[in-house]
Amino acid sequence: EIASSVPLHQSTRGVVPEVAARAQIEAMWPILELALSNANCRWSDIDLIAVTEGPGLIGSLLVGLTTANAVAQLSGIPIVGVPHIWGHMYANLLDNDLKPQFPSLVLTVSGGHNDLYLWEDHGKFTRLGYTLDDAAGEAFDKCGRLMGLDYPAGISVSKLSQEGDPKAFHFPRVMQKQDSYLFSFSGLKTAFLYQLQKMTKAEIQLKQKDLCASLQEAIIESLWIKVKKAIQTFSVKEVYLSGGVSANPRLREFFQFKTQAMGLNLYYPANIKYCTDNAAMIAAAAYYCDFPLQKIVKLNMGY
Ligand code: KG4
Ligand code: ZN
Repeated sequence: EIASSVPLHQSTRGVVPEVAARAQIEAMWPILELALSNANCRWSDIDLIAVTEGPGLIGSLLVGLTTANAVAQLSGIPIVGVPHIWGHMYANLLDNDLKPQFPSLVLTVSGGHNDLYLWEDHGKFTRLGYTLDDAAGEAFDKCGRLMGLDYPAGISVSKLSQEGDPKAFHFPRVMQKQDSYLFSFSGLKTAFLYQLQKMTKAEIQLKQKDLCASLQEAIIESLWIKVKKAIQTFSVKEVYLSGGVSANPRLREFFQFKTQAMGLNLYYPANIKYCTDNAAMIAAAAYYCDFPLQKIVKLNMGY
């Protein structure tokens, strides 16, 4: 079950952390009761509580941690803390019979994160790279917002791109020369802004689909440059996509084509609803990894 705050944040054209946390206080108990009743379960049927310990918006994390710790204390059900990004990675193992081969590569691309991991075993990840500034989802959202698209603009950009020409505008493929697995999207965002400043409102409207498709292609190719470098450096067996941006059809298609050409299988969450933030992915990570049982799970922003 997902209690989404997307409609709420459409009115503010982005996430306002305090507004999100207040809404989560109201949503938390009803959604837990709904999940239990739809699964025909009671608390006494639950073996383990898995809760996101971080990183993320502090207010939202505190609502989740306080609820989970309180339920664990009162019921005696064991509790573990799960890093948010591990949840995104394990979303790949929901609703399918996939048995990952190690080592593999995982690209986690969302609004808040843009990380490349070497997945060496269940519960064993080495972070190869991260973003120096914006994440890919943020680049989609902020550039879309500059064109007046609704939050979260990434989805609108991806839909408009389907009828646009990705070669109509040239935006930079970022960090391609740097000998690292680091990402950066602020330069691309600035290039996109400069392009819009050269155009009238009517021209932007007329060329919106081409702008979207060209932006999308630049983001995807920038991601691929680093993934390709990691594939060539480490003998990985498979490649995984995760996070909200892994719902993007062009990202999936592009990566599928490129990885196949290198003789590798590509995986992404079986169901689009497991790409964006959800609780099932946190349970999946707890199922596969041996997280230590805790008395009280603390906030952990250290990733
Ligand atoms: O994983 P997620 O729900 O939240 C974070 O942990 O950040 O990801 C949300 C992000 C937003 O930036 C949203 O615009 C982006 O995922 N997103 C997409 C698509 N669907 C969601 N970006 C591009 N194309 C999509 N189809
Ligand atoms: Zn997320």
